[in-house]
Amino acid sequence: MQFRTLNDVDVRGMRVVVREDLNVPMKDGVVGDETRIVATLDTLRYLRNRGARVAVLSHLGRPDGKVVPSLSLRPVAAALAERLGSDVGFAGDCVGPVADGAAAAMEDGEIVVFENVRFHPEEEANDPAFARELAKLGEIYVNDAFGTAHRAHASTEGVAHYLPAVAGFLMEAELQALAALTNDPKKPFVCAIGGAKVKDKVGVFTNLLDRVSAFVIGGGMANTFLAAQGVDVGRSLRDADLGPATQIIALAREKNVSLHVPTDAVVSTAFGDDANATAVALAEIGDRMILDIGPESARAYAEVLRGARTIVFNGPMGVYEKPAYQNGTRTIGAAIADATRAGATSVVGGGDAAAAAAELGFASEMTHVSTGGGATLEFLEGKTLPGVAALERAAAQSATA
Ligand code: 3PG
Ligand code: MG
Repeated sequence: MQFRTLNDVDVRGMRVVVREDLNVPMKDGVVGDETRIVATLDTLRYLRNRGARVAVLSHLGRPDGKVVPSLSLRPVAAALAERLGSDVGFAGDCVGPVADGAAAAMEDGEIVVFENVRFHPEEEANDPAFARELAKLGEIYVNDAFGTAHRAHASTEGVAHYLPAVAGFLMEAELQALAALTNDPKKPFVCAIGGAKVKDKVGVFTNLLDRVSAFVIGGGMANTFLAAQGVDVGRSLRDADLGPATQIIALAREKNVSLHVPTDAVVSTAFGDDANATAVALAEIGDRMILDIGPESARAYAEVLRGARTIVFNGPMGVYEKPAYQNGTRTIGAAIADATRAGATSVVGGGDAAAAAAELGFASEMTHVSTGGGATLEFLEGKTLPGVAALERAAAQSATA
């Protein structure tokens, strides 16, 4: 990956357009988890301290090209100000007279958040005229929105055609951490994978089967793997189509990759039920449903992970939101933390993994926790991220210019 970063340019007194991923969870107008806000602070403080005039662009939710007041970035700008410990302005639109006026009025060291880019249909259409409008907000473009790098939208890809483009510190850190998984990863390389459905993770399996030594499999998808091996999983959530799991099992055998599936399970009578949770052998599931890997499986997975030198944690092992079903995820989290202390590289990302690591308290012990959900997943699938490709193209062009 060849792109320029903030360290390669002099931003002093410059007008800078920064794309952040401020797509944070909102509830009744209040920001929920602020992880993505905190992740922008290095870049924004750096720019502010150098006297740059910082126009921040982001999306929030999926307003589908219309103005949806509940998806305004105004409360997010306020939360950002709180975290920065300094004022953050807000502009009611990201293009047109309101935006141009706000950009023109900015002073050195000022940060202004512009309204949700997805209020305009041209954003997701990656409309060139719209991208050019966004580009007018500054003299240089900093893409720090790793979490949105898998979208080829005007503010993540289009703008890079019209301004010198560099990566922000968050984008740089994310890509550096993920590069440890693709550029000659230290072996053994183990992927702990979970999530509801095999069919959502086929791309991750297929890509990583060429790199990893082993998978340890939990979550709803483990039920599908068990069913594919002829285990009666009772009323457990599982994919109706066992084809993809069967293919992954065959491919793993061919490539000599160990696929660890649970050998026991924590089951209950209903999804929301805590009271009747019991650990059982696979033969004793009956008409109950699996809600976590069992203690024997957790111990076995932990042993595999303790021996690893590179680890991706890509999904919880069970319904970790409920104490009765946390043991699997908690146990492997502790093992990943041990391995990391012993020198392994551990990366958390893609879907529910980061939330589980934060909730169960092992996030801070990992080498890197990605802010990306879909973006990290697509990276793990081996796909090119359009936001990153745009930075690479811009760097190649600036080198030949
Ligand atoms: C995310 O949270 O996945 C990113 O912010 C991208 O949002 P999107 O999935 O709505 O494109
Ligand atoms: Mg997404």
